[in-house]
Amino acid sequence: MKVKYKKIAFSLFAALVVPSMLSAQDAKMNKFIEDLMKKMTLEEKLGQLNLVTAGEATTGTAVSTDVEAKIKKSEIGGIFSMSTPSRIRKAQELAVHQSRLKIPILFGMDVIHGYRTIFPIPLALSASWDMPLIEQTARIAAIEATADGIQWAYSPMVDVSRDPRWGRISEGSGEDTYLGAKVAVAMIKGLQGDNLAAANTVAACVKHFALYGAAEAGRDYSSTDMSLHRMYNEYLPPYKAALDAGAATIMTSFNDINGVPATANKWLLTDVLRKQWGFKGMVVSDYTSVNELIDHGLGDLQAVSALSLNAGLDMDMVGEGFLTTLKKSLSEGKVTQKRIDEACRYILELKYKLGLFEDPFRYCDEDRAKNEIYTKEHLAKAREAATKTFVLLKNDNKALPLQKKGTVAVIGPLANTGSNMPGTWSVSADHANTPSLVEGMKEALGDKVKILTHIGSNLVSDAAYQERATMFGRTIARDNRPESEIINEALNTAKQADVIVAALGEASEMSGESSSRTELDIPKTQQNLLKALLQTGKPVVLVLFTGRPLTLTWEQENVPAILNVWFGGTETGKAVADVLFGDVNPSGKITATFPKNVGQIPIYYAHKNTGRPLAKDGWFQKFRSNYLDVDNEPLYPFGYGLSYTTFDYSDIQLDNKTLTANGKINASVTLKNAGDYDGEEVVQLYIQDVVGSITRPVKELKGFQKVFLKKGESRTVNFTLSVEDLKFYNADLKFVAEPGDFNVFIGTNSRDNKKATFVLK
Ligand code: BGC
Repeated sequence: MKVKYKKIAFSLFAALVVPSMLSAQDAKMNKFIEDLMKKMTLEEKLGQLNLVTAGEATTGTAVSTDVEAKIKKSEIGGIFSMSTPSRIRKAQELAVHQSRLKIPILFGMDVIHGYRTIFPIPLALSASWDMPLIEQTARIAAIEATADGIQWAYSPMVDVSRDPRWGRISEGSGEDTYLGAKVAVAMIKGLQGDNLAAANTVAACVKHFALYGAAEAGRDYSSTDMSLHRMYNEYLPPYKAALDAGAATIMTSFNDINGVPATANKWLLTDVLRKQWGFKGMVVSDYTSVNELIDHGLGDLQAVSALSLNAGLDMDMVGEGFLTTLKKSLSEGKVTQKRIDEACRYILELKYKLGLFEDPFRYCDEDRAKNEIYTKEHLAKAREAATKTFVLLKNDNKALPLQKKGTVAVIGPLANTGSNMPGTWSVSADHANTPSLVEGMKEALGDKVKILTHIGSNLVSDAAYQERATMFGRTIARDNRPESEIINEALNTAKQADVIVAALGEASEMSGESSSRTELDIPKTQQNLLKALLQTGKPVVLVLFTGRPLTLTWEQENVPAILNVWFGGTETGKAVADVLFGDVNPSGKITATFPKNVGQIPIYYAHKNTGRPLAKDGWFQKFRSNYLDVDNEPLYPFGYGLSYTTFDYSDIQLDNKTLTANGKINASVTLKNAGDYDGEEVVQLYIQDVVGSITRPVKELKGFQKVFLKKGESRTVNFTLSVEDLKFYNADLKFVAEPGDFNVFIGTNSRDNKKATFVLK
C-alpha cells in the first residue's frame, strides 16, 4: 500500500477540524498574551522556549548550567527537577523580581506513579484494571507534587509496547490499545482535575509522542518503522485519548519514525497533532532530543534546532539549541518569526492557565508541603492500590493464602531492600527510608507470624552487572562468598520455617529507562537458590519482583505458587502480607503477555492471523506458522490472573444477532463466584471482525468490568456494543465499520472465554 503522508493529513484535517467559538475566558487570555508578547524581544521569546534542569535528577549526560544568571536574563521558560516551596520560591522570585518582563517560570518534574507516596509502577497499576483507583493515585500524586511546588508532571506515559525486552514497558500500560487509552484518560483526570489553575492540580504531559514503545529489538531509543494503519489502529489511540481528555502538554519521543525522528517530524507534530487532532497545548522535546538529531544524522545544532521548531516543537528540554541558534536561523530565513511566536504563545498560555501570572507563588505553600505529603491517607491508598495490582500467576492446591501463624522464612535478594520497592521512575521517593518487604510484612503481621530472613543469593552473579542494575541508590547487599556457601546458609534459615517465601526477580532499575534486557529470566544465581529452596520439601511461594513480563517457564512448572508483585511502591511489604495471608484476594491481571521464551517476542494477543494458521490445536505442524522448538502459545496470555476463588462464566447472551448503524447490542454473561472466598474478577470482552477490507486482529479488547462478588454470589454482567466499537482505520485511513460477521468473546482473560456471533448490517 502506498499512502502519502500529506494526502492523508489533508483529508483527515478537512474532516476533523471544526472551528470553535472563543470563550470569554479565552479572549481574556489571548488579550493578555498578545499585550505581553508585544513587549517581548526576540531573545525573551526564545528564552521562553528554553527548559532547563535544576540538576537534582537528570536522565541524560547534559546538565544545565548558570541557571540563576539565565533566569535574570529571561533565558529560561521552565525548570524541571527542582522541588520544595522554598527553593522554587527563590527561583521564581528571581524571575518575577529580577527579569525585565517578570514572566513566571514553569516548574516540572517526573511525577510518574506518585510523588513522595509512591504507588505501584504504571505497568502494575494497569494490571489493576481499576480506572477509579488509577485516577485516585494520580490525584494524590498531583496533590503531593503541587504541595512541593510542582505545576507540571511528565506523565502519563502511554506508549503501547509489545516488547518486554524494552525496559520502559514498566512505565506504561502494556500491550493493549483500548486499555491503554482508558488508563491515559484516568491519569489525565487525576492529574489535572477539572481546573488547571487550582493549587492542587498539575498540567499533565503525555509521552512519548510517538511509538517509543515499538523500539526495534527492544533496545531503548532505537528506531521504529511502522505501517500507517498499524500506527492509527494500535499505537496512536492512547495519545489521542489523553489529548481528548484535555492533557495540557505532550512530549516528543527520542526515536526515529519511518526515517524522521519524532522531535523533527513535521508530519507527526503538525499534520497529525495539530491539524488532524486539533491539539492546542504545548509540545516539549524529551531530554536533549533536539541535540540528539545530530547523531541521528540530520545536521548540526543550528540545523536540527530549526528543523524541530519548523516541525512543530515548542519547548526544548535541556539542550539549549533553541536558545543559542534560532536567532541566527531567523536572520538566515531558516525559521519564521511566526513559528517562534506560536511556540512562545503555547508556553505563555500554559502559564496563564496554571494561574502563574495571577500568582507566581500559587504552588509555594510551606504549610501544604508539611501537611499534604506522605500522609496516612495517602499511604493507605498506596497499600490498597498495591494489593490490587498483584497478579497471582499460579496457585496449585490452594498453596495460598497462608495462615497467620507459625514461622515464615522470607529469602532472596529482594527481601531486605527498601530502596527497590518504589520501582523505577520514583525520583521524589525517599528511597533510603522506604520499608523493605520484610519490614513491611513484620509491621503488617505483628507477632502473629514469626519472620526469618536471609539474602539467599546475589541479585546476579556478575558484580559489574549488579552495579548497572542497582543505580541511583537502589542498593542490594552483595555477598562475595561462593554461591553454594550463601545458599547453604539460607537453607539453614529456611529449615526453621513452616513456609518459605522466595523474594526474587529483578531489581527496580533492571527496568525503566535505558534498562533493556535480552534475557528475561530470573537471574541464574537466584534460580539456583529457588531450586535449593524447593528441595527442602517445604511449601515455597515465589513472590516475584519485576518491571516487565519475564520468562518463567521453569518456575511455572516447578513452583507451587507464584505471586507477581511488580514494584508495589512505598507500602509494598504490607500489601504483600495482605495478599499472601488472605486479607485481600488478588485480582490483578497482566496487561502484557508473558512469553515462554525471548524468541517468541513480539508476542501479543491482538495479532493478525496468517495465511497458514495452525490447522488444529497443538504443535508442530509442517508448513504452518509455528516454530520448531516451542509452540505459539504464551506462558500467560494477556488479561490472565488467578484469584483465591473461582469464577464460573455462563454462555454469552446477545439480545440481538444483528447490529444496525444506529443500533446497539447487549452482550451479557452470568458470572458466579463458585469458590470459597469473596473476590473481584475483571470480566473482559473482545471482538473479532471476521472479514475485513484489510486483515484484522484475531481479537481486540473492547470492554471490561471489574466485578466484586461474595462467595456463592452470581451477577449478570452486561456490555453494550455499538458500531463505534467496530470501527478501525482502513487502508485509506478512514475510520469505518465494515458490514459483515463479528465474533464476540467474554471471559476471564484473552484466551479463555466464551464466544457468540452477530452480524453488522
Ligand atoms: C525521559 C522522559 C523524562 C525526561 C525528563 C527523559 O530521559 O525519556 O520520560 O520525562 O527524561 O526527566
